[in-house]
Amino acid sequence: MTVRLSIVGLMKRFGGVVASDNVTLDFAPGSLTAVIGPNGAGKTTFFNLITGKLKPDAGQILLDGVDIAGRSQSEIVRRGIGRAFQVASIFPRFTVEEALTAAVLTHRQQTSSMLRRFPLPLALARAREIMALAGLERVASTPSRFLSHGDQKLLDIALALALEPKVLLLDEPTAGMGPEERWQMIERVQTLWREVGMTLVFIEHDMDIVFKIAQTIRVLRYGKVLAEGTPDEIRSNADVIEAYLGTSLEASA
Ligand SMILES: Nc1ncnc2c1ncn2[C@@H]1O[C@H](COP(=O)(O)OP(=O)(O)OP(=O)(O)O)[C@@H](O)[C@H]1O
Ligand SMILES: [Mg+2]
Repeated sequence: MTVRLSIVGLMKRFGGVVASDNVTLDFAPGSLTAVIGPNGAGKTTFFNLITGKLKPDAGQILLDGVDIAGRSQSEIVRRGIGRAFQVASIFPRFTVEEALTAAVLTHRQQTSSMLRRFPLPLALARAREIMALAGLERVASTPSRFLSHGDQKLLDIALALALEPKVLLLDEPTAGMGPEERWQMIERVQTLWREVGMTLVFIEHDMDIVFKIAQTIRVLRYGKVLAEGTPDEIRSNADVIEAYLGTSLEASA
């Protein structure tokens, strides 16, 4: 298969804990992958290593064949790996439209020629496109500090999209949400993925969501890759059932 992101032998130790133990995984362009595993399995560490928040002890992180392991977070973002930070809180007084316009401007200014400023009307137009994709038009003029929890999370994702990522990493996008809001959130994420066409990787604990949404699933445990495959393959994988899913999966099958 063609590969957008290729992780090879990724290692990270915290004292006696091996949080990433020789992780080797590929992600195809345009794929939608869930990363699952018990608490402490190394899922967030995996994302932190890819985005440069943590430096790996060893291993390669190849984005379109270029090893970005150990590079700075800002360089990794510029090269096309995005993640949703809790950024909405950084611009509490900005409205949704202002925050997105600022993000588009900053990004385009950094990536285009230093001599030509990116015009404001174009940034505003792009911000409106992203708002439409994220379903945030209805709160375009709301200051971000007044947004609901769900809309703040959507704004975080929208701000990540403003940086035009090739790969977008979402760590538990539905955390802290009630059952109904969860589904709205994940359906919105799925729509974004379909319309933008980026490679999307998300960490999720809700197995109903994982098995309904993901094209492929990667299971981590004790920092190691326990299994990878399609939802059907993972559902029937004996190691995964024994180590993680147990009988809870039969209920959601
Ligand atoms: N900065 C850190 N310093 C020390 N230990 C850490 C650090 N970050 C993670 N760990 C340890 O590494 C292991 C993996 O943690 P990680 O947060 O990646 O797990 P996770 O799969 O995201 O778990 P959860 O599902 O609870 O979010 C755990 O044992 C954790 O305690
Ligand atoms: Mg985590």
